[in-house]
Amino acid sequence: MGRLVIISNRLPLTIEKVDDGYIYHPSSGGLATGLASLDDSLEKIWIGWPGPILEEGDQQQIIADLNQKGLVPVFLSAQEIELYYEGFSNKTIWPHFHYFTQYTSYEEKYWEAYQSVNSKVFKIVKDQIRPGDTIWVHDYQLMLLPNLVREQFPDAKIVFFLHIPFPSFEIFRVLPYRKKLLEGVLGADLIGLHTFGYMRHFLSAVYRILGHEATFGEIDYANRRVNVDVFPMGIDYDKFANPEQYYAEDRIGLMDERRFKSKGRKIIISIDRLDYTKGISQRLKAFERFIHTYPQYRGKLTLILLVVPSRSNVDQYQELKQEIDTLVGQIDGDYRTFGWSPVQYFFRSFSFEDLTKLYKVADVAMITPYRDGMNLVAKEFVASKDRQQKGVLILSEMAGAATELSDALLVNPLDINDLVDSLKQALEMSEAEQSERLKRMQDRIRKYTVSKWARNFIESVNSRRNLSTKSDASISIHNAKDEIASGYRAATKRTIILDYDGTLMPFNEDPQAVFPDTELLSIIEALATDKKNKIVINSGRDRNTLDEWLGHLNVDIAAEHGTWIRIKGKWQLTIELDDSWKTQLQPILNKVVDRTPGSFVEEKDYSLAWHYRNSDRELGQNRQEELKVLLTPHTQKLGLQILEGKKVLEIKNWKINKGKVLDYWLNGTKLNFFLAIGDDATDEDMFKVLPPEALTFKVGQGLTSAGYRLENYQEVRSLLKHLSNIGENL
Ligand code: UDP
Ligand code: G6P
Repeated sequence: MGRLVIISNRLPLTIEKVDDGYIYHPSSGGLATGLASLDDSLEKIWIGWPGPILEEGDQQQIIADLNQKGLVPVFLSAQEIELYYEGFSNKTIWPHFHYFTQYTSYEEKYWEAYQSVNSKVFKIVKDQIRPGDTIWVHDYQLMLLPNLVREQFPDAKIVFFLHIPFPSFEIFRVLPYRKKLLEGVLGADLIGLHTFGYMRHFLSAVYRILGHEATFGEIDYANRRVNVDVFPMGIDYDKFANPEQYYAEDRIGLMDERRFKSKGRKIIISIDRLDYTKGISQRLKAFERFIHTYPQYRGKLTLILLVVPSRSNVDQYQELKQEIDTLVGQIDGDYRTFGWSPVQYFFRSFSFEDLTKLYKVADVAMITPYRDGMNLVAKEFVASKDRQQKGVLILSEMAGAATELSDALLVNPLDINDLVDSLKQALEMSEAEQSERLKRMQDRIRKYTVSKWARNFIESVNSRRNLSTKSDASISIHNAKDEIASGYRAATKRTIILDYDGTLMPFNEDPQAVFPDTELLSIIEALATDKKNKIVINSGRDRNTLDEWLGHLNVDIAAEHGTWIRIKGKWQLTIELDDSWKTQLQPILNKVVDRTPGSFVEEKDYSLAWHYRNSDRELGQNRQEELKVLLTPHTQKLGLQILEGKKVLEIKNWKINKGKVLDYWLNGTKLNFFLAIGDDATDEDMFKVLPPEALTFKVGQGLTSAGYRLENYQEVRSLLKHLSNIGENL
C-alpha cells in the first residue's frame, strides 16, 4: 500500500514567532484536530500552510523542522493570505456554503488568487507524489486541486473530502465560479461528504450545472467514474474517554475544575471557534432569556463560554467578537451578584487537558450552530462522558453531527424559545435518562472513530477502483477484446445490430440535433462496405428521421422499435397496426405537458412518446410516475405497452419491440458472428432474444442481460473502429 499524501490548507501545526525562534502549536478547527489523531499505521505526509511567518529568511529552518514531523509547508505571502485565504476561501466560499449569502464577496481578485494558490500548492504536491500514493485533498480552500493533479497524473488515485456543508443547488448556483469549482473536485476518484443531505445537494449541482447524472452516487465524467459518498467524520474516542494519559508533562496555568463546581452550581459549556456560523450570539441571548424567565436558577448555574480566536482579519469575525463582548458584558452587568457571575468568558484556545476537563465538568453542552459541516466538539463532549455517564447535549439540528447524535436534545438554533425550553429540559433531566441517551450516542461514536473514517474512505476508493478496472469477464470488455476480434476475423457472415441514441450518439437536449457526425458516418460506412457485414440500426426513432440521416448508407434499419423495417433500401410495415388509440390518449399526455415545462410529445406512426429530457429532473420523474397511473387503465384495454426509456415514456402496441423485429435478420441466417449494442431498457428486449453465442453490449450503467459493458458512445465507436480495421487488414 502506498503512502497517504494529505493536502489541506492548514497544517496540524501552526507557527508562532518568539524571541529565540519559532514554536509550533496544534492548529485549531475540526479538520486539523481530527486528522491529527489518525493512527500511525498509515504512512503519510501532510502538505499545507503553517500559518503566517514574518521573516522569509526563516523558511529553510521551518521546512527542516516540519519535514522531520512528516509535514511539508506551503508558505503564503501576505497578499495570498489576504486574497486567497481571507478572501475567496473565507469571504466567498465559507459564508456561501454555510447559507450566509449576505456575507458572500464576489471579488474577481479573490477568485484569481484562489486559482493561483491552488496551482502553487499543486507545484509542491507534484514533487512529492510517488507511484502508488493516495492523494487526499481536503476542504473548500483547495477545490481546484484534484483536477490539477488529475491533468498531470491521469492515473493517480485522488480523493477529496469536503468538511463543510455543500449547499442546496439554489444557493450554489448563484456563485459565478460554480462550474470551475465542480470541475475541480470532479478530478477526484472519490468525493466524500459528512451527510446524505450534502451529498444530495452536490449531486444535484453536478447534474444541473454540468449535466452529468449520478446512479447510486456514481458519475461518469470525462471517461472516468467518480464516486460520491457519505463518510461522517469521527473522533479519537479513546483519547476523549480516557484523556489523562495524553496530558502534557509540563502543566502550567491549568484549570481547577473544582472551583467551577463550587456551591453545587450546574455548568453549561459553549465551545466554538469565533465564527458567525456557530450561533454564539443567539445562544447567549437564549441563556439570558432563560435566567430572566426562570429566576430560581440565578446563582445556580454558570455558562462557561469558550471562544477560540479565528480569522481575525475578516470583518465579520471582528464584528462578531464585539457583539459577543457586548452581550457577555450586558448579561454580566444585569445579573451578576457578589457571589455569582453568570458567564465565564474565555477568548483563547484551551490546551487539550483544560478542554477535556471542561467537557468532564459540564452538566450541559450547548452546541447550537446555524450551520456546521460536522461539529466535532459535540462528539468529543459525548465521548468525555464515557466513565461518568452524566451530562446532556443540546445540539443544533443544522450540525452534520445531528444525523448521528439523534439522542441529543435537537434544537432549531434560531428559535430562541426552543433553546430556552431545551436548556430547562436538560437541567431537569433525570440521571437515568441522561445515561441512556449518552450510551446510545457513545455506542455510535465509539465505533466510527476518525481512524475508521479515514480507513473506510481510503478502502472505499481502492475497492471501487478495482471494480471498475477489474477483469470481470461478464461485464468489462477489456480482457475480451482479443476474443471478440478473433471471432470477427474468423466469421464469414456477420450481423451487427446497433441502437442509435445513447449508443452511437450522445444525448442532447434537442433530439433533432442528434444527427450523425462525420466520424460516425465514416465508421458505419467502413463497416458496411465490408461484404461480410450486415449492419442494422435498431432504433425507437421514427422512420423518416432515420431515413434522412442514415438512408444513404448501405445499412438495414428498424424504426419505431420494429414497427417499420428497411431491408435492402425498401421500407415495409412489420405488422398491421391500429393507431386510432392515439387520439384517445393524446389529451392525457397534453395535460401532463402543460404541467411539465420543457416536456413534449413526439408522435410517431404507431406510437406516442412523452419526452422530459429538458424538464427539471425530479419534476419529470414525478410526472412520469403520475402518467403511468393515468395511462395504465387505457393501455390495458387497448393492448398497448408503456415503455420507459431514458427520460422518455413511450406508448406503443405490445406486439412490437426491438427484440421481436430481429427475427427478420436472425431467421434463416447461418449465424457465425452476431453483435448487438444498446444503452437503455428498450434494448434489453434485443439482448434477451439473441442466442447465447451472440456478443451483446450494454452502454453505461444499470442492470442488463448483456454480456459486456461499454462506458459510453465513445467506447462504442472505438470498438467499431477496431473491428472495421480488422476487416480491412484481412
Ligand atoms: N478545540 C481545541 N481547543 C480549544 C477548543 C476547541 O483544540 O480551545 C478543538 C476541538 O477539540 C475540536 C476542534 O477544535 O476538535 C473544533 O472542531 P469542530 O468540528 O467542532 O469545529 P470547526 O472549528 O472545525 O468549525
Ligand atoms: C473548519 C474548516 C477547516 C479549517 C478550520 C479552521 O473546520 O473546515 O478547513 O481549517 O475550520 O479554520 P482556519 O481558517 O483557521 O483554518
